[in-house]
Amino acid sequence: MSSDSRSENRTRRAGAGGKKCPLRIGVYPGSFDPLTNGHLDIIRRASKLFDKLIVGVLVNDSKKNPLFTIEERAALIRKCIGGMPNVEVGTFSGLLVDFVKQHGAVAIVKGLRAVSDYEYELQMAALNKHIDGDIDTIFLMADVQNSFLSSSVVKELAWHGGSITGLVPKEIEQDIVDNIKKRRAEADN
Ligand code: PNS
Repeated sequence: MSSDSRSENRTRRAGAGGKKCPLRIGVYPGSFDPLTNGHLDIIRRASKLFDKLIVGVLVNDSKKNPLFTIEERAALIRKCIGGMPNVEVGTFSGLLVDFVKQHGAVAIVKGLRAVSDYEYELQMAALNKHIDGDIDTIFLMADVQNSFLSSSVVKELAWHGGSITGLVPKEIEQDIVDNIKKRRAEADN
């Protein structure tokens, strides 16, 4: 993409014949291994606050053993954002603030489920602000019905044969169940 078309993608017209003004772009980062209904709720709500929302999927941390590869995680998210034309999915490694700047975004979006999330997220928000004072983090409170939900509990539940219906988007439920079954079979052999 040329730098001209890139800058065109970052502006919008303010009314008929109006001057161009910058798009308000937000980044919602995470591991998304896999996407849950809690993540999707934050994506839906944040997409209404920004002209464009980029879901930033963190490239595999070598210390973790992810269920899905980075490409698979991004593809699963794309399967679930059909009705949200201003949402895009990207992948990144390295610093989050660099990804945010590359995309001309103005804010990082994070979801908060409970006080236990708060301390870590406060530290990350302050650190990111220290690295780049122009980038703010905004927090959306998780819906109470998602307050217990995380990618880890989804994986653990599915691993032990529990139902994950209602915890993950229906578009990707079978993908998750199938992958866990494959992993279990590998572990049993
Ligand atoms: O879904 P997660 O695993 O809780 O998401 C964590 C994420 C991706 C938001 C966080 O690990 C992150 O921002 N990683 C990128 C590296 C970075 O910028 N770290 C902060 C400064 S050291």
